[in-house]
Amino acid sequence: MTRPFAVKAGKKRKRKEAKYDKEEAEVMKEEEQTVTTSVIEEDEKVVDDVVKDLPGIPITISDQNSRSGAIFVLERASLEVAKVGKTYQILNSEDHANFLRKHNRDPAEYRPDIVHQALLMILDSPLNKAGRIRAVYVKTEKGILFEVKPHVRIPRTYKRFAGIMLQLLQKLSIYAAGKRDKLFRVIKNPVTQYLPLNSRKIGFSFSSDKLVDIQKYVTAVKEDLNYVFVVGAMAHGKVNDEYVEDYIAISGYPMSAAWCIARICEGLQQKWSIL
Ligand SMILES: C[S@@+](CC[C@H](N)C(=O)[O-])C[C@H]1O[C@@H](n2cnc3c(N)ncnc32)[C@H](O)[C@@H]1O
Repeated sequence: MTRPFAVKAGKKRKRKEAKYDKEEAEVMKEEEQTVTTSVIEEDEKVVDDVVKDLPGIPITISDQNSRSGAIFVLERASLEVAKVGKTYQILNSEDHANFLRKHNRDPAEYRPDIVHQALLMILDSPLNKAGRIRAVYVKTEKGILFEVKPHVRIPRTYKRFAGIMLQLLQKLSIYAAGKRDKLFRVIKNPVTQYLPLNSRKIGFSFSSDKLVDIQKYVTAVKEDLNYVFVVGAMAHGKVNDEYVEDYIAISGYPMSAAWCIARICEGLQQKWSIL
């Protein structure tokens, strides 16, 4: 079931922005150092033009009446804002290769499409439709942490996704149309403060020595524990977080983040008989 959602923008929205709750104001102070500095002096008109161009995105409502569930943490997502020409944009290797080279950056590292695909995989999964995904957190390469509500329907096309991410990183939250429900919001680090105590924190890495069958692995976890899955959303390198209890490889081949997530979801769908 879906209901419409529209990104709020323009002058009315700006007035509401003045009423950020205390937590967001603090987050803004702390995080604004790490957002590309040009964003701080944002050209509101240009941003609003981008946002106004975005058609509403619908949200899905899932069944939350279940016991233990899964939380995903996408680490090292490439989501960096910069002013390119006259507009602020999320940098990507295809459209901004020359700009990135000019600023001595490696275009190959700028892959926001990876986090887009990963979010689509998580939120479109039958596991999520069955209400078993409790939360999704994304941490960017620059250290900005944000939460994505499991009932959000992620824009299907990259262009619209990038528009939403741009607005999120500049305004710190995105609401459902006509509601106080924040569908995306920047939150304070570290992510561990939002993770349930009764959870198993599992990191995914092709280079782990522990190669397992994900289906058997999740089946062996006690029924009353929640799962926290930490997956990399960067182009190269690996995740390495202290809070992770166990690093596992789930294939003898390096996979995309999207494929890794698909396997994880399928493992839990089998365990919980979600068809
Ligand atoms: C590093 S990103 C690589 C991104 C890739 N270039 C893409 O387009 O998605 C992929 C992430 O998926 C997970 N992953 C990939 N292959 C894996 C494997 N064989 N076992 C466990 N996790 C894996 C890791 O968390 C890894 O950080």
